[in-house]
Amino acid sequence: MQTCKTVQEIRDESRTLRQNGKRIGFVPTMGALHEGHLSLVRAAKAQCDAVIVSIFVNPTQFGPSEDFSKYPRTFQRDCELLQKEGVDLIFAPSVEEMYPPEAVTYVTVEGLSEKLCGKSRPGHFRGVATVVCKLFHVVEPNLAFFGQKDAAQVAIVRRMVRDLNLPVEIVVCPIVREPDGLAMSSRNAYLNPQQRQSALLLSRSLRNVRRLFDEGERTASRLTEAGKHAFAEHRSVRLDYFEIVDPDTLAAMQLIERPALIAVAAWVGTTRLIDNLVLRP
Ligand code: PAJ
Repeated sequence: MQTCKTVQEIRDESRTLRQNGKRIGFVPTMGALHEGHLSLVRAAKAQCDAVIVSIFVNPTQFGPSEDFSKYPRTFQRDCELLQKEGVDLIFAPSVEEMYPPEAVTYVTVEGLSEKLCGKSRPGHFRGVATVVCKLFHVVEPNLAFFGQKDAAQVAIVRRMVRDLNLPVEIVVCPIVREPDGLAMSSRNAYLNPQQRQSALLLSRSLRNVRRLFDEGERTASRLTEAGKHAFAEHRSVRLDYFEIVDPDTLAAMQLIERPALIAVAAWVGTTRLIDNLVLRP
């Protein structure tokens, strides 16, 4: 397994693989890898001839008061995990390598970037779309693998790929959870034992809504009210949003007559967590 640190290196390696007829699978990450990331790597291994993983904590998707500087960085361990999975190449550029001085060009997926997490994290999805677009241009993968955990990110990346005619197929993999239901996230490392317990509120609220839906409730406002209710009783968790939206456009839905994304984001202490599930009538 080789690690490339420059755009030129990864571009050369990737092109050689493609010239040898290899179908390339790409898994973009910010490192601090867990089973969620590894599930994407395994899916890529199963569907492609060569797998490239990027590890890059992307500064443009963090707001000025967010956790860019303290985001967990566990590069050595990440490399060991990826080696065990049989990954072919790691792309781990520096910030200076990815963003030349005075870079001023961004990708904005208008209308979607402001929804869900985009509301409380202005500029976040612009940073995501920009770095993913750049990574696609550098790596030139055939397939790219994303987690359903970040459902809005999936919608935004899919729309960008369509709108900009990027020659890559997006594959989405299911959310990997801890045994008690908490969605795996690199940010779970920030939680103390008490907060780790409180964090279960997110997955529990989604399960409650699913139960009501299974019992026949189809009105989005009633389902979201039920979802929000659990948060009102827990002072230690502050709800950011609990919404039912169209999975492709992220527009609010009133009545669930087609697949609907229920998405939740909440602050547990200073840690912001997200979770979601898709309801299918
Ligand atoms: P990161 O949070 O490191 O996640 C990398 C990929 O792993 C994303 O596609 C994410 O959805 C997926 N993932 C994370 N937790 C998961 C889980 N519990 N189950 C399944 N998949 C999971 O998402 C990013 O990085 C960045 O925004 C990035 C796309 C790399 C751009 O900087």
